[in-house]
Amino acid sequence: MQACRRGFSPAAALGMQFRMSDSLIEVYDRKVEQGLLRPDAAQRGALPCFAEVLAYLRKPAPKAGLMGLLARRKPEPPPGLYLWGGVGRGKSMLMDLFVAHVDDVPKRRVHFHAFMQEIHEGMHAARKTGTSDALAPVADNVARQVRLLAFDEMQITDITDAMIVGRLFERLMAAGVAIVTTSNRVPDDLYKNGLNRALFVPFIDMIKTNMIVHELVSETDYRQHRLAGAQVYFSPADAQARSEMGRIWDELTGHDAGQPLTLTVKGREVVIAQAHNGVGRASFWDLCGKPLGAADYLAIAGALRVLMMDDIPYLSATNYNEAKRFVTLIDALYEARVRLIASAAAQPEQLYREGTGAFEFERTASRLREMQGADWAAD
Ligand SMILES: Nc1ncnc2c1ncn2[C@@H]1O[C@H](COP(=O)(O)OP(=O)(O)O)[C@@H](O)[C@H]1O
Ligand SMILES: [Mg+2]
Repeated sequence: MQACRRGFSPAAALGMQFRMSDSLIEVYDRKVEQGLLRPDAAQRGALPCFAEVLAYLRKPAPKAGLMGLLARRKPEPPPGLYLWGGVGRGKSMLMDLFVAHVDDVPKRRVHFHAFMQEIHEGMHAARKTGTSDALAPVADNVARQVRLLAFDEMQITDITDAMIVGRLFERLMAAGVAIVTTSNRVPDDLYKNGLNRALFVPFIDMIKTNMIVHELVSETDYRQHRLAGAQVYFSPADAQARSEMGRIWDELTGHDAGQPLTLTVKGREVVIAQAHNGVGRASFWDLCGKPLGAADYLAIAGALRVLMMDDIPYLSATNYNEAKRFVTLIDALYEARVRLIASAAAQPEQLYREGTGAFEFERTASRLREMQGADWAAD
């Protein structure tokens, strides 16, 4: 089993033991005893990595303002954790367990996409005030609100994120914010083949120096284990699929024809063609064939309980933009635990045919599977 390592590790250096780490393990073991989790040595082995972050959070917050400035030595950067590994291994589950376990500390757990979206919006507003450095006030504002930031699914695919995330993390850490994050990729593969990647590389070094980088090497893809129940995914998207989708719509809406649902996002209008009582219906092309972005999908996910999506086609490098939007949409729906009912050209694992983007799609396929589970978003 791997140990938890990072460049800087005062706790490890002092050989300190933390009671809190034991209690996080106790929380995990209790869930296993209660039958809520299956015992998994790799998951259990990742828990001590969170302990260092916990130990830091238990200490009083670093002094801000004049006292901080007067302190002779620069404070040590807070420990952070970069937990990575394959899909369905339990990274998000462990992080959520940890976040729930951290008491009395201002904290925030957020999907990385959604967070970066907010940062860009904040910077946009800051620029209007004529500041020369739009990132600093936005980062400082976050640092005033939290001591722990937990990001789910850190991935960098966008140059606008790639170019600011390094300074953002640096400033947050300098202000004493501890960062834990999950990712599907080893740090060296972040923003792989991205534009101007050389400018991004120092960020990777920063992760490796300041954060514990831990791979969750669980054998089990738990998402595969949770599949059962009513059919909510129809392939191929033929006449029979259409009639099944129609039947489900009627059932969910009591045969209501529905109405267009108009959402306003950043001053623009995003329309779901047909909606009734939190159930929306639209085609793949309505949702992913137009230049919509993460903010639009988050708004859609926030407005619906159930999304019925018709005619997901085969995806590949030839319709890369549509595919990329689809990935973002599914992330937003997943995060908001929206029920997805869909017709598609093929089963999730067969939807993406080779080429750029195939790796990213593995996670989406896994989520499409999980979202078919009987217990998905059951409330
Ligand atoms: N040890 C476990 N026993 C039972 N279910 C688990 C276990 N670990 C994870 N799961 C469940 O499997 C699904 C996938 O886990 P998740 O944390 O989302 O994986 P990842 O973030 O690594 O892709 C979730 O629904 C999660 O609650
Ligand atoms: Mg996850």
